[in-house]
Amino acid sequence: MKKADIGLIGLGVMGANLALNIAEKGFRVAVFNRTLARTQEFVAEAGPLASNIVACETLEALAGAIERPRPVILMVPAGRAVDEQIAALRPLLDRDDIIIDAGNANFRDTRRRMETLMGDGPRFLGIGVSGGEEGARHGPSIMIGGAQDAYRTVEPILNAIAARYGDEACAAWLGPDGAGHFVKTIHNGIEYADMQMIAEVYGVLRDGHGLAAGDIAPIFAKWNEGRLNSYLIEITAEVLAARDTSTGKPLVDVILDSAGQKGTGRWSAIEAQTLGIPATAIEAAVAARSLSAIKHEREIGEARFGVPAPAADPVDEQRLAILEQALLAGKVVAYAQGFAVMAGASREFGWNLPLGTIARIWRAGCIIRSQFLGEIAAAYDAAPETEDLLLTPAFAALMETTHPHLREVVAQSARAGIAVPALSSALAHFDTFRRARGTANLIQAQRDYFGAHGFERIDRAGTHHGEWVRDV
Ligand code: 6PG
Repeated sequence: MKKADIGLIGLGVMGANLALNIAEKGFRVAVFNRTLARTQEFVAEAGPLASNIVACETLEALAGAIERPRPVILMVPAGRAVDEQIAALRPLLDRDDIIIDAGNANFRDTRRRMETLMGDGPRFLGIGVSGGEEGARHGPSIMIGGAQDAYRTVEPILNAIAARYGDEACAAWLGPDGAGHFVKTIHNGIEYADMQMIAEVYGVLRDGHGLAAGDIAPIFAKWNEGRLNSYLIEITAEVLAARDTSTGKPLVDVILDSAGQKGTGRWSAIEAQTLGIPATAIEAAVAARSLSAIKHEREIGEARFGVPAPAADPVDEQRLAILEQALLAGKVVAYAQGFAVMAGASREFGWNLPLGTIARIWRAGCIIRSQFLGEIAAAYDAAPETEDLLLTPAFAALMETTHPHLREVVAQSARAGIAVPALSSALAHFDTFRRARGTANLIQAQRDYFGAHGFERIDRAGTHHGEWVRDV
C-alpha cells in the first residue's frame, strides 16, 4: 500500500478537521489518537475521504505508515501533552523526520523543545493554525516557525491546506525557532483586543442607549459592508441576531457575562511587557476578561454603587457613524501595538519577521481576517522599515480623521459610567504617542529623589543627579 505523506496525532475537533482537510487535498494522512475508539469513529465518518486516511492503532504503526522523511503533526492540547507526545515519538523517528506542533503553544516552550531536539533530531516546526474548526477543515491561516529545510519538506502540504486570498495561500514560513508560535500568540492578542472593542461598542449601544440585541445586529451588519468589514464584525451581527430556542430570547441575553481564556491573550500581554513594548489595548482586553470572571463581586458592586440609566436621546445615524469611526481608530491602535510587539520580538530574537507577509497571511482563514489587513500589508510593503504602523502615510491619515470620534466615544462613555477599557487605552496610547514631551521627566526626578537613580538632561550629555532639598 502507498505510504502516507504525513502523520497526524490527536483527533479532537481541530485535529480531525485538519486531517480531513489534508485528505481532501489529495494527500495520504496517517492518523493516531490516544483512544482507538475515536480513531475508528473518525475514519467511519470520513466518507469518501477515508481512502486517503490510514488509521493507526499505535504510534509504531503510525511511524511505519509514513513516507520518509516522516512529518508528523501534533494536534494535542498545548503544554504537557506536547512534551509527552514528543518523548513517545522520539525513539520511533529518525533525525530527518519532522515533528510539527500545530497547537497554541507558548513560543518559549517551542524554543525549549527545539533546543532539546537539536542534534539528534527529529527536526521540529512550531506552527500557529488559526481559523477555528471551520478554518481547520476548509483552510486556516498557517504561521510557520522553525528550521527552513524542515518547512520546505512540508511546504506543498501546508500551502494546499491553507486558506486562499485570491490565488495566494495564507501560509508562510516566518522565521526560525518559536517565530510561528509567537506570531500566533500575537494574532490571538490582537483577536482579544478586537473582540473587546466590539464588545465595548455593543455595551455603549445596549447600556448607553438602551438598544436590544436585535436592534444592534443590523448596525454591525451595516458596518461589515464598510471599512470595518471583517470576520469578527460579521459574526457579531449574526450572534446578536440569533435566538435562544428554549426561551425565544436573544441568545446573547441568556449567556453568562463571564469570558473564558485559554492563555494566548495573556501571553501576548506578558511578552509585550517583557519586551518593554506597550500593548495596552491587548492588556486591557485581557484584564477585561479577568474582570468579567469576577461576576459575584460585580453583583455586589452594582448593589452598592448602582449603574447610571441609559441616555434618553435616541441613537441616530450621526451617533452611529461616530461609533463606527471610533471602533476603527481603536482597531488601528490595537493592531499597531500588536505589530510593534512582533517587531520588538523580531529584534530581540533575531527572527527578521516579515511584517507585511504576516498581515498578508491573516487576510483569510484566521479569526481576525479582514480587508483591513490588506491595508496593513500594503503599508508595510510601502514602508518595510517603518518604526510604527501609526506613522505610515495610510494609517496616519486614517488616525487623523478617526481619533476625534474615538475621543468623543471615550469621553461620553466616561460620563455615562460605561467602561470602555480597550478603546480608552487605545486613545491614551495615541495621545501619548503624539506628544513629544511627555511627563516622564517627573518620574525620573522622583526616582532620583528617592533612590538617586540619576537622569539624563535635555541640554547636556551624561547621567546627572539633582540637588534635592530633603528633610533630614
Ligand atoms: C484561532 C483562535 C483559536 C481559539 C483560541 C481562543 O486563531 O483560531 O484564536 O486559537 O479560538 O484558543 O482563545 P481563548 O479561549 O483564549 O479565547
